[in-house]
Amino acid sequence: MTKSIIKGIGHYVPENIVTNDNLSKLMNTNDEWITERTGIKERHHRKNRNDSEETTAFLAFKASQKALKMPGLSAKDIDYIVFATLSPDYYFPGCGVLLQEMLGCDTIGALDVRNQCSGFVYAMSVANAFIKSKMYKNILVVGAEVHSFGLDFSDAGRGVSVIFGDGAGAVILSASEDENAGDILSTNMHSEGKYADELCTKFPGSKYGWSDRMRLEPENVTDAEIYPVMNGNFVFKHAVTRFPETMLEALNAAGKTVEDLDMFIPHQANLRIAQFVQQKMGLPEDKVFNNIQKYGNTTAASIPIALSEAIEQGKVNRGDLVLLSAFGSGFTWGSVLFEF
Ligand code: UT7
Repeated sequence: MTKSIIKGIGHYVPENIVTNDNLSKLMNTNDEWITERTGIKERHHRKNRNDSEETTAFLAFKASQKALKMPGLSAKDIDYIVFATLSPDYYFPGCGVLLQEMLGCDTIGALDVRNQCSGFVYAMSVANAFIKSKMYKNILVVGAEVHSFGLDFSDAGRGVSVIFGDGAGAVILSASEDENAGDILSTNMHSEGKYADELCTKFPGSKYGWSDRMRLEPENVTDAEIYPVMNGNFVFKHAVTRFPETMLEALNAAGKTVEDLDMFIPHQANLRIAQFVQQKMGLPEDKVFNNIQKYGNTTAASIPIALSEAIEQGKVNRGDLVLLSAFGSGFTWGSVLFEF
């Protein structure tokens, strides 16, 4: 049977570090509030917010180069791209085609996934299905975001803008017939669109445009309607319910238990959410990997960045049973359970 193995992985973040103290100079916030409520100490933002080079596709390009290097593959070996982001370079086309061009891949298919915090889990699930159906052999699966150009750094936006950071992570998911190789054992994906407005950016969009002729009016900018809005408490409560559900679903589908897990890597939304879920699931601290303290919430990029760091630090090794789970805007949620 064809298995889906993670052959390569890499991550990349812009050099520029923004601390909580840096943010407190832009808006009415402070290190104590941010640390206590989220666990975040710093995040990376591209240096110059007018810098058109460090785009989402560019961060993905840098992460992908590292992922390709690990197994010694070239861009020509990739036969499909799945790219998850909520902060694309263009309104359209998506980032997948930009990455295909930057890497110099052949004229392969490039699919963009728009599932926000769950984007990487969705992307891996789709890629796994393509591998298992023998359609593709080496799929580049990416999560990347540039949030820093789209946040409200005034007092009005402080409940959202202190949380998010820029970054990218990439995985090479490959077909293997080796019976000793790892594999993706189960995946699940969910959505509940009735809560779409609880965490969203409304403009530009066909639902909320004022005029019949324009995607965006000057008033949308001055009224700060171009920025993300989040009902934080509401999202938090749903997250701590949905995480355990999707985790157990993934484990049950593969005939595994929580005790079998070597590492759980949650979407890095808020350290308090991860700690709550860890306790609820009865997981010891050394079996949960968090790095939100350094990167903030990088949405679709958070899981591949965390997985990449966990492997780099020797906390995830070949043969380990690893669970990736996410919850966020949509609402969407889901998991990927795999043997590395
Ligand atoms: O990744 C996608 C999924 N997203 C999530 O899972 C996020 C889930 N939600 C959360 O992580 C939390 O709800 C937040 C971190 C966003 C907010 O924490 P909270 O404990 O829910 O705070 P709150 O929104 O209830 O605000 C509490 C107080 C308010 O002041 P008052 O009304 O009590 O006087 C806010 O105005 O904290 C105030 N506040 C701030 N104060 C200092 C809000 N943002 C800030 C800030 N600095 N940055």
